Amino acid sequence: MFRGRSLLCLLDFETHEIEKMLDVSFIMKNYVYHNNVPSSLSGKRVALLFEKPSTRTRVSTELAVSMLGGIPIVLNKQDLQWSRGEPIEDTGRVLGRVVNGIGARVLNHLTLVKLKESSGVPVFNLLSDLSHPLQALADLMTIRERFGNNLIKIAFVGDGTDNVLLSLMAIVAKLGLELHIATPKELKPREDLFKIISEIADDTGSVIEFHEDPYDAVRGVHVVYTDVWVSMGQENIAEQKKKLLQNYRVTSDLMKYAVKDAIFMHCLPANRGEEVELEVIDGPKSAVWDQAENRLYTAMAVFSLFI
Ligand code: CP
Ligand code: NVA
Repeated sequence: MFRGRSLLCLLDFETHEIEKMLDVSFIMKNYVYHNNVPSSLSGKRVALLFEKPSTRTRVSTELAVSMLGGIPIVLNKQDLQWSRGEPIEDTGRVLGRVVNGIGARVLNHLTLVKLKESSGVPVFNLLSDLSHPLQALADLMTIRERFGNNLIKIAFVGDGTDNVLLSLMAIVAKLGLELHIATPKELKPREDLFKIISEIADDTGSVIEFHEDPYDAVRGVHVVYTDVWVSMGQENIAEQKKKLLQNYRVTSDLMKYAVKDAIFMHCLPANRGEEVELEVIDGPKSAVWDQAENRLYTAMAVFSLFI
């Protein structure tokens, strides 16, 4: 079903395929807890390429490959000839000769497409300007651990153009869930991508709605999600975005409008006091450390299925 394919965007996968990735993630977590992880990647070499900083993704992907018996090789852009102008296609061709899979965190999503075409091996999106599929899988795992497979309601408060939000919208649409997005009208997601997501949502019965008022979005939801206001690579528009997002902070007061046992989620890293109040992210409703831990199991699941 997956062998030899790439994972650049969850929109490229059927609902049952996403369910399979989630099922295997839970199985991997169980294996890790019982200390009996299979050697599914025995002898397989996986390059992990980073054009931007990373803590969770770097740790989870490198550990995932090693724990499954494979050989990870972490490559930071500044150490590669790519940083001195060697074309990414040439980098891809070389890697394709010596590794069985490539994970890459890139500034521009097109770089992933070029790596996929030039290398001929499965390529995994470890975060691009457009999306963060492995994060969305870990997030759904976290949500299911708390609420089971119920049709829960999620609110996202913040930047409507955010890469983590795009993958969240994709997985919500594919799984038929409900998402309320509070974002200023200036920060709506890309229209072409949202059109694709809406069509999927219509088919699965998923509801995705926009609100200008965060209180309207959060009323009665089970999950309140946010991400940083300024993503890596957006430093030049930081001030403009911060101004637009002033009223989109997740506060203790906002959390009161969600259901009683609602959780707070954030992919991390976070700016306490900016997109979320310290009392919320460090408070009892916060599920952020579970999300971070679950990144390991989703990376293990995806690598073992695809490579
Ligand atoms: N959430 C996430 O991808 O974190 P890192 O940037 O630390 O990898
Ligand atoms: N939106 C953030 C996510 C980091 C994991 C960024 O792209 O910087």
